[in-house]
Amino acid sequence: MSINSQLKIAIDGPAGSGKSTVAREVARRLNVVYLDTGAMYRAIALKLLRESCDLSEPGRVEAQLEQTTVQILADERILLDGEDVTDEIRSAAVNAVVSRVAELPAVRRKMVRQQQEIAAVSEGIVMEGRDIASTVMPDAPFKFYLDAALPVRARRRYLEQRDKGLPLSYEKTVHQINERDRIDSGRADSPLRITPGTAVIDTTTLTIEEVVEQILQGINLQAD
Ligand code: CDP
Repeated sequence: MSINSQLKIAIDGPAGSGKSTVAREVARRLNVVYLDTGAMYRAIALKLLRESCDLSEPGRVEAQLEQTTVQILADERILLDGEDVTDEIRSAAVNAVVSRVAELPAVRRKMVRQQQEIAAVSEGIVMEGRDIASTVMPDAPFKFYLDAALPVRARRRYLEQRDKGLPLSYEKTVHQINERDRIDSGRADSPLRITPGTAVIDTTTLTIEEVVEQILQGINLQAD
């Protein structure tokens, strides 16, 4: 067994906790696959938005899901039914509905199955999301939960959006993040939570590099 086959790293946490940047960098340093599972939920949300699908009708949602494919390429581009939607999944419209879509059991079943298939064929993987340690890779030897104070998370997201030219006021960003946290933590099916055996890192006052270092150190210590 190669050393990389044990390198299953789960990183969970709320919006703006720094998960994506940190997870991508940890994967790069370890030379393993990086998977942003949030991007997959965003792609499904985009599809259901485009089809004006009524989310309160499970039958309609399932019919749409049967005809939908989501692919994540090695360069992180994301394809929805073959179309590159990498930028569109970050739109305000998707931000507004993604947590409502992600709480639907049929959506979670499809996404979790696909994520587990990707983990099974990857020699090593850093997977980030909300339910990775609890549901997608409960057997991962390395599990981390990133968190930060709400105003700090909102500020990070606000600056990111501003740099992309997508203006949303700081106050609205706080509201939206808070609302998504509430739905993500409160849903019945695999909510965002800290599972036993997970190392919690509060990133409020830490730089990306400091968080990456803590994770790499955590992996070394646990692997010894
Ligand atoms: O990057 P950001 O924190 O804004 O969120 P994301 O990782 O792109 O995820 C978008 C949304 O997808 C989350 O707010 C959750 O509702 C959902 N999600 C989920 O339910 N389970 C996951 N494993 C990943 C994302």
